[in-house]
Amino acid sequence: MTLPPASSIRYGGDYNPEQWPTETWDDDYAAFNAAHINTLTIGVFMWSLIQPDETTYDFDALDTIVNRAHTEGRQVVLATATAAVPPWLATTYPDVNRVDFEGRHHNYGQRHNACHSSPNYRRLATKLAGRIAQRYANHPAVIAWHINNEYGGYGGACYCDTCAQEFRTWLTHTYGTLDALNDAWYTTFWSHRYTSWDQIVPPNILSEHWKSPNHTAFQGITLDYYRFTTDNMIRTFTEEKDAIRAHSDLPITTNFMGLYKPLDYHRWAPHLDFASWDNYPPDEHSANRMALAHDTMRGLKDGQPFWVMEQTPSTTASRDVNPVKKPGILSLWSWQAIAHGADAVLYFQMRQNRGACEKYHGAVLNHSGRLDTRVFTEAATLGHDLATLGDYTLGLRTPARAAIILDWDSWWALEMSDGPNRHLSYIDTVLRLYTPLWEAGVPLDVIPITAPLDTYDVVVAPALHMLTTDITQRLTDVAHRGGTVITTVMSGRVDTNDHAFLDITPGPLAPLFGIRIDETDARHPNDPITLTTHLTNPLTPHPASTPAAGTGHLVYDIIQLDGAEPVATYTGDWFTGTPAATRHNVGAGDAWYIGTILDETTMATIVHNAIARHHITSPFAATPGMEHTSRGHIDFLLNHHHTAHTLTLPFSGTNLLTGDTLTEGDSITLNPTEVAVIARHHNHTPEDTPS
Ligand code: GLA
Ligand code: ZN
Repeated sequence: MTLPPASSIRYGGDYNPEQWPTETWDDDYAAFNAAHINTLTIGVFMWSLIQPDETTYDFDALDTIVNRAHTEGRQVVLATATAAVPPWLATTYPDVNRVDFEGRHHNYGQRHNACHSSPNYRRLATKLAGRIAQRYANHPAVIAWHINNEYGGYGGACYCDTCAQEFRTWLTHTYGTLDALNDAWYTTFWSHRYTSWDQIVPPNILSEHWKSPNHTAFQGITLDYYRFTTDNMIRTFTEEKDAIRAHSDLPITTNFMGLYKPLDYHRWAPHLDFASWDNYPPDEHSANRMALAHDTMRGLKDGQPFWVMEQTPSTTASRDVNPVKKPGILSLWSWQAIAHGADAVLYFQMRQNRGACEKYHGAVLNHSGRLDTRVFTEAATLGHDLATLGDYTLGLRTPARAAIILDWDSWWALEMSDGPNRHLSYIDTVLRLYTPLWEAGVPLDVIPITAPLDTYDVVVAPALHMLTTDITQRLTDVAHRGGTVITTVMSGRVDTNDHAFLDITPGPLAPLFGIRIDETDARHPNDPITLTTHLTNPLTPHPASTPAAGTGHLVYDIIQLDGAEPVATYTGDWFTGTPAATRHNVGAGDAWYIGTILDETTMATIVHNAIARHHITSPFAATPGMEHTSRGHIDFLLNHHHTAHTLTLPFSGTNLLTGDTLTEGDSITLNPTEVAVIARHHNHTPEDTPS
């Protein structure tokens, strides 16, 4: 079971006509026709309309909406409506309301507001999913199921007594005995040895935490609570999924939130038929971060294309400041998603709400419903372009020979660690390694720590703090067969229980990198250390003079060489002259270690040197802001820069958006925000075959 079949990239989004007068529905569909909207997500927040009390199910409204969509020739992603509980449910069964990190038992309110251990929530949500599936399983408009919505939104975990009980059960399955648990949690420290399972309570501000979710006295229990919370939500997801499966074989997904810390999406991914996510970047300068998130979502299902289930056509509403997307950005960012493997780009939402907290959230149609607004015009133009493209890109995969390991266990463990530096950010560290690869147009997979590494020439493992599985062996194998491995400061520190290795740093990774670290210094964010590198960046047209000066930030491994050679050297503090980054010959390959949080330029110099011998960079790597990706034999060029770029094509092909035939050596000019989608005429590879 994979993605729903399609004849072009799916285009549309959340459509909630139950929230506005029926007189506007005709206008909605006239607009959808004008914008080539083919797919509507329906019913995400309809629980209280469908089920006004425990024994009444009323499908009149949903019937009307789904039937109308069908009459109008649209296809429907049907939600199970379980993401926001109705008031009657919360007052009849108060155990449905969550207890937060501060220990407060919430009253009814907001959404994403249920305790996932509550037997009443689980029973009624599962029943609702089953009733909806039963009713619409064979409806000709329905093509996929959308379970719940943004699991974990509004704080994620619950800390109620039912969750405490479920956590204990999870722990007995995980550890078997209290002795094993005590050892894993290192409870002899601070007199914590548990003698009964009932003594264990969820870790929050009333128990092990002395400040935030990152400030815990016992990393073991807090790590396990993250793992438990993920598994607990997977359970409600699979309960709904099973209820659907009793009636329907259509593909099932839930909309994730990209680089979302509280839930381990790799644990969840096997339960999805296809991955989908909601792309709301923090600002307009986050093209690299969005690319990383897209690649992460594509990695959830082993490279299978994914969907963008939501993005705003213009502005968000929930932030303190909510800028609009400037002209051209809606299109550019949609194409970026497709360039990274999306087979659908959908919006939240089709028409703007009149009331409540999202009334200023952007929509394809604003309150006026006019078709001559800038946003509608841009959305309609994109719809036209997607319709023109047709099915060319659907199912095509990214031909990646490089991979980055992204690991939730390391993310959690690193950021909840007391020492060496609270300012360390796992995702920032990943992004710092990802960015020079992205800028160089390297086709890249973002993979879990469990993924096979055999097909990759370059494997990057940023801040791989926690070593689980046989990762050390697999990374070593990559180097021995001629590949390149890159890692950073704070890698190889702890095992799966967050216990330090009784060894030199970086633990089992030390032989691979040929180094020994006895100490790691730390500094405040505004107090970097200077360093220097003799390497020059092979992708920079006019290499900086050498040695080039750079800076290291936050943490500083004091590295002793044990076979490796230095590639950057500290030029400050008492360890001046010692290596800040190293390279080690291993078998036919090499292993690079970066011992501090490097400035962007030095990071790019080192990463571009490390990958140079593998010939995986784009011919446009040196063009600022020019993103280049491939899916099968199709190349995407996206100009994120504020000026136009003229490129000389090193291949022949057809521009699928204009129909122009392009010959090798031709120039192509891309204005700011402009995109080219080019099908190459030659050099077809096995990845051309759609999955
Ligand atoms: C999330 C939700 C939507 C909507 C948007 C607004 O992605 O899933 O229901 O609230 O945010 O940005
Ligand atoms: Zn709970």
